[in-house]
Amino acid sequence: METHKQLTIGLFGFGVVGEGLYKILKQKPSFNATIKKVCIKNPGKRREAPEELFTTDRDAILNDPSINVVVEVINESGPAYEIVSTALKNGKSVVSASKKMIAEHLPELLELQQRTGESFLYESAACASIPVIRNLEEYYDNDLLHSIKAIVNGSTNFILTKMFEEKLGFREALDLAQKLGFAESDPKLDVEGFDAVNKWSFLLTHAYGIVEKTENLVFSGIQFVQGRDADVAREKHFDIKLVAQAKKLESGKVAAFVLPQFIKQDDHLAFVKNEYNGVVIESGFADKQFFYGKGAGSFPTASAVLSDLSALRYQYKYEYKKLYHHTPHELDG
Ligand code: HSE
Repeated sequence: METHKQLTIGLFGFGVVGEGLYKILKQKPSFNATIKKVCIKNPGKRREAPEELFTTDRDAILNDPSINVVVEVINESGPAYEIVSTALKNGKSVVSASKKMIAEHLPELLELQQRTGESFLYESAACASIPVIRNLEEYYDNDLLHSIKAIVNGSTNFILTKMFEEKLGFREALDLAQKLGFAESDPKLDVEGFDAVNKWSFLLTHAYGIVEKTENLVFSGIQFVQGRDADVAREKHFDIKLVAQAKKLESGKVAAFVLPQFIKQDDHLAFVKNEYNGVVIESGFADKQFFYGKGAGSFPTASAVLSDLSALRYQYKYEYKKLYHHTPHELDG
């Protein structure tokens, strides 16, 4: 078995995450991974990397047999799916951060992984620096995972923190989240809960074996939360957070949703401020466990990509244990 695979990377996208990864790999030559080519959309932009690294031709990566790993960190979901599916079919391992694309194409991506046998890893697509996917996938037995409650969108959490603790206006807080590289290029995806429910949909697959379209999940963002809601919350010692939740019911089905909630100030999630994310897991015998870390931003997201790259060295693949090796749970409702 090949254990120390040399990684020759073709990178799609040189935005917040792509550039973060490039800088990290430059600082860590011992990591033994080389970016051979970077495919970008707009060749005119100034970038802090040698010009010969860049191409606008996808095939320069997808058809290069010396590239064994494709890292896809672009914005648009349609082209991202084309890149990822072609790369898998061409025998390359793929690491992706495209949560919207994964949520929209999960059934096809599951089928492609089974058909090609290639690794498709996307730890950075949910909760950035928190290793939540591998955790749900590997650690928790199907029967023992009672509930998960999480903050999975850094931008909305950042906006709520800035509005309610630092008295910034909504627009000002959103502008800051965009400037710091946390928000999506279409911030409606963050604010109206689309980004959170996208992430939640595939976390449900790793937690409970549920493969469900986001249209079938109840969700809302923070678009209806107002300043006076925060005043009421504070009076009663609550915070307002955008919370993604999944809970096993007596029936054995799973109730799942993403909604703004009043959170008690002594709740673990109340501790999660700014662009941080947090995940509280309740499982049999262990009681509560709390995972906390940066959920957005260049280096925190690139760090999860790096961890996936390092997992590729030992041919790690998601087995989707709850889906294929157990009886998958059904969604309630
Ligand atoms: N816009 C996303 C967020 C980026 O704020 O959480 C990380 O997925």
